Parts: sequence; C-alpha cells; structure tokens
Amino acid sequence: MNTKQGKFITLEGSEGVGKTTNVDSVCKTLEDLSIAYVRTREPGGTPMAEQLRENLLAQWTEPVNGLTELFIAFAARLQHVEGVIRPALTAGKWVVCDRFTDASYAYQGYGRGLNLEKIAVLEEWVHGDLQPDLTLYLDLDPEVAALRIADRDHDRMEQEQMSFFHKVRQGYLARAAANSRFRTVDASLPLADVQQTVCRQVKEFVGIHMPGAN
Ligand code: TMP
Repeated sequence: MNTKQGKFITLEGSEGVGKTTNVDSVCKTLEDLSIAYVRTREPGGTPMAEQLRENLLAQWTEPVNGLTELFIAFAARLQHVEGVIRPALTAGKWVVCDRFTDASYAYQGYGRGLNLEKIAVLEEWVHGDLQPDLTLYLDLDPEVAALRIADRDHDRMEQEQMSFFHKVRQGYLARAAANSRFRTVDASLPLADVQQTVCRQVKEFVGIHMPGAN
C-alpha cells in the first residue's frame, strides 16, 4: 500500500550535465523553504545498493549484458526504495534522488536496446505504487557533455561510444514528452542560469503542493 506523504523529486541527465551541482540547488531550495528532506542517489543509497553500484560501474574483463545491468539497477532500487525512499516519504519527508527508474529506461532501454515493456514489468514489480512527483531532466548534447568530463577518470558507462549517449538522450526526451511530471532544463546554458531554472521549478512545485511554505 502506498502511504506516501512527502514528495519525491528526481534529477536525471547524462554524465557531464552538472547533475550533482543541481541536486545541491534543489536541496538548498528546500532548506530555504524549511522543508525536511532526504538526499540520496541511484544506483545506491543503502550500503548494499552502493556495492551493487560499484558492480554496475566497474571495469570487467568479461562482456556485461544489458539485462545484467538492468537487474543490478533494480536490485539496488528495491533495497533503496524499501530501506530509504519509502520510509522517508511515509515520515513526511521529501526525497531528492539523483537518478531513478527513468535512468533504467534511458540507459538500458534506449541505450542498450532492451525491451521497454520488460523494464515496465520490473518497474511495476519493484515500485508500481511509487513514482516521482517531479523529475528535472537536464538536457545536453552528449558531445558537449563529453568535453565537460574529458579530464576526469571514466567508469565503465562513461567509456561508452558517443552513439550510446545519443540514444540515452533520445530515451530521456521521449520519457519527458510522455510524462507530465518531467521538466526539461536546457543544461547548455551557463551553470548559474541552469541552477536558477532548477530553483524556480522546485519553488513552483512547492507552491502547488505546499502553498503555505515560506
Ligand atoms: P552517476 O553518478 O553519473 O549518476 O552514475 C550512475 C551511472 O549508472 C550512470 O552511468 C547511469 C547508470 N545507471 C544505469 O545505467 N541504470 C540505472 O538504472 C541507473 C539508476 C544508473
């Protein structure tokens, strides 16, 4: 049964779009509005889910099947939903999560070419009654994003071909077009402008759901 009381905000986007900084902005906005929240991320958010994350992103000498990635992501998600997200929401806290199931659709569905209907079965199974209330998607051309992270060490996903990231982006854009909870933010703008837009979107959302917040 879904006994959710707090609101669930997710941030999505490819590597290099400035997601972490913008998660900071969302949290700061909630703090300014005196809204209690839990900040977390996927894959991860619990000790076991963080280990699953390491498995997902590690370099392996064997080929990694897209379906294996999907199962790892959903195994981590189940631990995370039951251990962190659902308890926080039930306690009336808001949850700010760096990535959620939209990432499985974008990376494993569109990026790896897995059947979207099968992903939907896992989604229904793991958290059918629990969906984000607001999803901020930071959109950026993968070529530009790659330049932004060129000087840092790359994990297994970040080492993918550019064509993979174009497919991931198409996936996010398709999901954004199909779900009213999405707000697409142009992440090619200067970071300060992106942060301002993100703050505005969160304030608008709070204004609708907690008109008394100050
Ligand atoms: P991040 O720290 O950039 O968010 O790294 C997480 C990586 O995991 C990123 O490459 C996207 C990937 N990922 C998936 O492939 N599937 C998923 O379901 C999730 C949540 C993340």
